[in-house]
Amino acid sequence: MANPSILILAGDGIGPEVMAEVKKIIGWYDAKRGITFDVSEDLVGGCAYDKHGTPLHDDTMAKAQEVDCVLLGAVGGPKYDNLDFSVKPERGLLRLRKEMDLYSNLRPAQCFDALADFSSLKKEVVAGLDIVIVRELTSGVYFGEPRGIFTEGNERVGINTQRYTESEIARVARSAFEMARRRNNKVCSMEKANVMESGILWRQVVQEIHDKEYPDVELSHMYADAGAMQLCRWPKQFDVIVTDNLFGDLLSDAAAMLTGSLGMLPSASLGAPMANGRPKALYEPVHGSAPDIAGQGKANPIACVLSFAMALRYSFDLGDEATRLEQAVEKVLAEGVRTADLMGPESGTPVSTSAMGDAIVAALDASL
Ligand code: IPM
Ligand code: MG
Repeated sequence: MANPSILILAGDGIGPEVMAEVKKIIGWYDAKRGITFDVSEDLVGGCAYDKHGTPLHDDTMAKAQEVDCVLLGAVGGPKYDNLDFSVKPERGLLRLRKEMDLYSNLRPAQCFDALADFSSLKKEVVAGLDIVIVRELTSGVYFGEPRGIFTEGNERVGINTQRYTESEIARVARSAFEMARRRNNKVCSMEKANVMESGILWRQVVQEIHDKEYPDVELSHMYADAGAMQLCRWPKQFDVIVTDNLFGDLLSDAAAMLTGSLGMLPSASLGAPMANGRPKALYEPVHGSAPDIAGQGKANPIACVLSFAMALRYSFDLGDEATRLEQAVEKVLAEGVRTADLMGPESGTPVSTSAMGDAIVAALDASL
């Protein structure tokens, strides 16, 4: 049988730096566990634009459709701010999500014990936190038509459309209920049914899928603004949160800070099962390309490393190896190894991106 395949799209900014650490770990699995991946690499985002004049070449898109999963670093940077909207780096990522139909975006927010003191919230609020945001990823206001900047009379109008079909809501709701069944069996659905019709439909469909297919799961509904407030007030009340594309974008950044740093949060974007029964998938850190620190060896590679752990679990059925890698990260944090984002202003010298990767590899060695 062919080796499992991975397409690496490291992208822009800190993307290549954090991905270099994942490549070390892929090398470790090959050398020490006999788990060999066929790894290919290509361009996405600004670097793809620089070479091809498009943030995602058709050949890259075609490759992404063929591999077992895609690992993505980050896209974007100030250099590309003034590009036409249609070729902005982010369009490359959004095209991957849309054409691979990756409708279910899992964004776990877990607070490692070693970092509980570091969160901007009180320790008792975040210690032991373990929640998952399931964000709808291929529809809503990110993709709805009509969209654009138009002229009406003597002024311009910017238009985006929030649009959700019943089936789009139903499939991401199922994904959230399935996730809850493997965890603490609780789903909170967030929308703005008080002001948006799409929110009213969202609430109805989630409730219907629950009543028909998942009556054993505890379901609640919250307005997304109140949800943001509750996430800061007492996040441990949640287990799985399911929400739309835009609210999920905002709520997952907020949830990230509960864990201490945006540099800690991995994500999995999953679609329908492929011929091998595993979902079509793309894994990426929640953080962006961080152009302000790019190329300086300061970035925290943990979000990207933990994204690879999610790939081991969801794309390769290697749950035990995923746990091994997550525990290696936990060990390194417990030992006090810290990149700059995980430190207060006066708490010592941070390690570099690559030293953090080396420490994780050493912890993997120690796990054998
Ligand atoms: C994210 C990012 C993306 C989004 C950008 C880079 C297009 O913020 O994955 O959360 O808005 O979805
Ligand atoms: Mg975001």
